[in-house]
Amino acid sequence: MRHFRFITAAFTAAALTLPLVATSASADPSRGHQSSPHAHARYDRLRQAAPDGFVVGTAVAGGGHHLEQDYPDPFTSDKEYRKVLGQQFSSVSPENQMKWEYIHPEQNRYNFAMADDIVDFAERHHQVVRGHTLLWHSQNPTWLEEGDFSDTELRTILRKHIKTVVGRYAGRIQQWDVANEIFDEAGNLRTEENIWIRELGPGIIADAFRWAHEADPKAKLFFNDYGVEDVNAKTDAYYELIKGLRKQRVPVHGFSSQAHLSTRYGFPGGLEDSLRRFDELGLETAITELDVRMDLPESGEPTGAQLRQQADYYQQALSACLAVDGCDSFTIWGFTDKYSWVPVFFEGEGSATVMTGEFVRKPAFFALRSALQEARKH
Ligand code: XIL
Repeated sequence: MRHFRFITAAFTAAALTLPLVATSASADPSRGHQSSPHAHARYDRLRQAAPDGFVVGTAVAGGGHHLEQDYPDPFTSDKEYRKVLGQQFSSVSPENQMKWEYIHPEQNRYNFAMADDIVDFAERHHQVVRGHTLLWHSQNPTWLEEGDFSDTELRTILRKHIKTVVGRYAGRIQQWDVANEIFDEAGNLRTEENIWIRELGPGIIADAFRWAHEADPKAKLFFNDYGVEDVNAKTDAYYELIKGLRKQRVPVHGFSSQAHLSTRYGFPGGLEDSLRRFDELGLETAITELDVRMDLPESGEPTGAQLRQQADYYQQALSACLAVDGCDSFTIWGFTDKYSWVPVFFEGEGSATVMTGEFVRKPAFFALRSALQEARKH
């Protein structure tokens, strides 16, 4: 079940300022680490370039749209992929592997194999992990969505799931997207689409946070959504909800912007203000799923101007996060077009990540790295 709603707000085109830089893998200074004359030789990987305490993450491909694309799991079979994943990033997010339909495919069976692999990999590579996600209207298994359960049974199902999954990785997952996409564009709770809110009422949201906190008191617990890259109806709704929950001492620690952007629209200029508003409420903030898709020309290859515009968006999103004190976690939704969800979900659009399908770095990669290096100096 995939009910992802696309971002529809129309923005004006942003100014293009970035120069086109070399994208060839052979021009990559990180390859000749020891002998590189590059001034930032020690900081030429994204994770090293980042200021202390600031993590740079990526989604880890697997499951989801990839099943339809008929290629083996990149995480276990693609050596180049794993290498870049370990070298460049200090945070990882399972793209699908911890969603209900993957981790809990039958009522009495969990499938932890893929999620375990990611958490083990992260530890070996000194990376933190963002758990994704516990209460959502999408990618739920059929047994759950079509089952015939009483309210009491449903409540027990959710509590047990949260206790089991969060408990299994307690101490090893630093941030959890507890509730994902609970509001629609107009800022109304998804009282029809979201099985938990529909059947059990909005109070279940606070319970989900409480159960997650009991299962791992150290994990930071987040609300996560798309279309929240501005001060708008949706972020107003989150602001009010979270303010109320914090008053009742519900353990909510963070608010995050997915940031699935498109060059069809201007860059959402209110991103920084929006993050800051949640920061001032006492929350951690994060960018959790950044990608910047574009309409591809008939050739299928983006133009230089498109790549420059994309780089500019990536850099602006990163700068917004860097500018807000409590925004210490910045994650892109995959780093190579080879496994990006975009062409599968957005017809005619693609090239949304920072590397081509052959792992060649695009201007967006270098724009992120420069912005991180710059931030490190200050
Ligand atoms: C997407 C995945 O990237 C796809 O592989 C999957 O088929 C559908 O979901 N918001 C979210 C993510 O919170 O979980 C979604 O990920 C993208 C939108």
